[in-house]
Amino acid sequence: MNILFVASEGVPFVKTGGLADVIGSLPIELRNHGIDIRVVLPKYGMTAPELCKKMSVQKCFAVTMGWRYQYCSVLEAKQDGITYYFIGNEYCFNRSELYGYKDDVERFAFFSKAVLKSLPYLDFKPQVIHAHDWQSGLLSVFLKNHHSRDRFYRDIRTVFTVHNLYHKGLFPKEYLEDLLELDPALFSIDGIEFYGQLSFLKGGLVFSDYITTVSPTYAQEIKTSYYEEKLEGLLQKRSNRLKGIINGIDYSRYNPATDPNIFVQYTNSMSAKAENKIQLQEMLNLPKDKKIPVIAFIGHLVEHKGLELITGALKDILVKDVQLVFLGTGSWKYESYLQQVARHFPDKISVNIQLNDSLARKIYAGADIFIRPSKFEPCGLSQMIAMRYGTIPLVRETGGLRDTVTPFNQLTGEGNGFSFKNYNPQDMFNTICQALECFKDKETWKVIAKNAQAEDFSWKGPAQEYIDIYRGLLEEKAGYCWDGFDYVRKEGAYKIS
Ligand code: GLC
Repeated sequence: MNILFVASEGVPFVKTGGLADVIGSLPIELRNHGIDIRVVLPKYGMTAPELCKKMSVQKCFAVTMGWRYQYCSVLEAKQDGITYYFIGNEYCFNRSELYGYKDDVERFAFFSKAVLKSLPYLDFKPQVIHAHDWQSGLLSVFLKNHHSRDRFYRDIRTVFTVHNLYHKGLFPKEYLEDLLELDPALFSIDGIEFYGQLSFLKGGLVFSDYITTVSPTYAQEIKTSYYEEKLEGLLQKRSNRLKGIINGIDYSRYNPATDPNIFVQYTNSMSAKAENKIQLQEMLNLPKDKKIPVIAFIGHLVEHKGLELITGALKDILVKDVQLVFLGTGSWKYESYLQQVARHFPDKISVNIQLNDSLARKIYAGADIFIRPSKFEPCGLSQMIAMRYGTIPLVRETGGLRDTVTPFNQLTGEGNGFSFKNYNPQDMFNTICQALECFKDKETWKVIAKNAQAEDFSWKGPAQEYIDIYRGLLEEKAGYCWDGFDYVRKEGAYKIS
């Protein structure tokens, strides 16, 4: 089976968030299942020079963007045994950031167009193109609207994975005809219109043959109005083409027994973990004491990751005998507030406003509790990494957090963490108190840590679920056609052949 991943970031080439971890690890497991999987990414200017050196140019051609031409080079490199292709264009991608430019509409429309245009030049024809998030949302729109009559393209099936419905890729409608060269009829509720603007994400949701998202709970949540994303009607309509598949983590990259970044390697030894804690405390200038529970937050310091709850309950938490460690960057409001509190309580809080993978791993290894009280969380990878390092997650029951963390039950000894339901600081604080009580009893804590480390968050099972979807799409009988929402027997508006 030939599958092509299309995404805007992937480890080790470029990363801003969890999407990159998925793109850097799921293909390896798919390949282990016998899939010929390849990945296309933009070639960004900030990719590390040693990785750029591996790339060789395969082909150059022009892509039309309305009345203009943009040149495009396709490069190729092997990484972890996977073939990667890169779409090169200095104007679009040689910049200091990945996203957030005024012309993102052009940059990522170009990316999807260029990927499709490059296919006949590659020595590989995908049967399924699997696109990720808004940046590649237009791919299925272009495939169905620009290439549906072309023999080469017409049997290619598409899967679209939503890693976060919050980012919709919204742009002014003026670009529809001029830049994107799409039919004005698509500016409608059944097309890619979203409250007066164009949405790349909606394009992926409407025109892809199958939609997945990154946890079963999130797949249910986005069909309701709870998070006010205003796409629940469409997702309900397409619910027979929507599945939540939990993400995995790369077990070889995140392994406390071999991780060279941590102070002392370990499998499940509590004393080695305590040694990591002492050295972490020393490094972060916190009092060295293995009896004081260390609560860590690693991730974007933004509201929807639950910073509102943490800052709301901070004064109560600080009364407790705990140490808090923060690592990440985010909104100025939370960065500056936390730094200010840290100046007042240097013995209790360490705030590290940086992206630092090596320090992150030291914290995963040295902390006792990993906190992630998100407002919404499509999947979340950090709580899984924490568990792999024997650090107990404390989360809000939403999305993938709900699917991976089972609250500890004192009576049965089951459960791998702590969780609360309502999005408010008091409920979170009560759960912290409950966790701190358990922490006092070494034996209880050992049981929870053992349960957490025993979980299998590898890609094995999820990869098989993706393969079942690909297979299903390829087996769909000829004679069905696309009606804008589903394959139906009757003649439809967007007939494929
Ligand atoms: C996004 C989501 C996160 C998910 C990740 C990978 O960053 O916010 O919850 O784990 O994508 O799918």
